[in-house]
Amino acid sequence: MIAHLEDLGDVRGKTVLVRTDFNVPMSGPDESRIIEDDFRIRSALETLNWLTSRGAKVVCATHLGRPKGKFAAKYSLEPVRARLAELAPGVELLENLRFDAGEESNDSQFVAKLISGIDIYVNDAFGAAHRAHASIVGPPKTLPSAAGRLLQKELEILSEMRSNPKRPFVAVLGGAKISDKLGVIEALMNVVDALVIGGGMCFTFLAAKNLPIGDSLCERDQIDVCKKLLSGNVPIHLPEDIVGLDAQGAFATFGVRLPDHAKGLDIGPGSAAAFADIIMSARSVFWNGPMGMFEDNRFAAGTRTVAQAMAETKAFTVVGGGDSAAALAQFKLETEVDHVSTGGGASLEFLELGDLPGLVALRGAPNVK
Ligand code: 3PG
Repeated sequence: MIAHLEDLGDVRGKTVLVRTDFNVPMSGPDESRIIEDDFRIRSALETLNWLTSRGAKVVCATHLGRPKGKFAAKYSLEPVRARLAELAPGVELLENLRFDAGEESNDSQFVAKLISGIDIYVNDAFGAAHRAHASIVGPPKTLPSAAGRLLQKELEILSEMRSNPKRPFVAVLGGAKISDKLGVIEALMNVVDALVIGGGMCFTFLAAKNLPIGDSLCERDQIDVCKKLLSGNVPIHLPEDIVGLDAQGAFATFGVRLPDHAKGLDIGPGSAAAFADIIMSARSVFWNGPMGMFEDNRFAAGTRTVAQAMAETKAFTVVGGGDSAAALAQFKLETEVDHVSTGGGASLEFLELGDLPGLVALRGAPNVK
């Protein structure tokens, strides 16, 4: 069992450490970074307001980027601190946890420093709950602990999708590498009614069907794995047309046989329409990973069509964090789906394994045992 905020009893006058995931996308020069999207900060507000409105003193802690154990101006939390002060006045924010090597190595002295003067720990960092880092697994060893609202909601939605989805249940996967997502693909094969594959990873599947893919992305060492997946019981839908660059570097549309030195960079319009049909006729859909290089407008149409179908379908729709959430935001459709997960890696790992180190830690907290 995992405790929720209500299980913490009276929090008035208590100091609460809230582990949040404010690892937000930033741009601009190192010394004056700008937050591109504050979705992860806004997503924590329900928990922060719940605690402060009941008289708790709230101290947030987060990582930002991967500074590898030392200070780097690029990863300073100052812009995040300023935004948090606007959204949740009075809530404190510690320095970037990953400026100390003890965070990633789960060092007990770093944990002791983190919890000094703290009465209660709340984990609301779903996006980081798959990391067995000090701030995730350390505090619940000794402090009364609970899941925040965001973590609670993510778990409810993803657990339901994993164990009791409305059918037909379709997973739409994209992104560059199969090797990154193999675990979740294999796990999803046990629960979905169909898998739709686009993005860079589709070319390894096309190569596994002995189709020529030119110079498109391909993980040669995953071809046998793809062959095995393609011969399984679950239908896997692959693109039947491709958009990309021809051997001379000019924009081109192909079938599924790419000429030598051509490069596929998006699914074609026919495939996008076919994928949209599948999404429209499903009753639940999980989408993770763009269908092409959507940052380049020439190769954004496949991802846009999938995003629009996610917005229009009557199915229950969940979008994994990371690039697919960024794509939805780019097309201004983020409010049109049922749930946008704040976790990229975490949502995939939860769908694959059904548990995360941060959840194991909360189940072992002294107020739960
Ligand atoms: C994320 O952005 O997915 C989380 O904040 C985790 O970040 P990490 O992959 O650097 O651990």
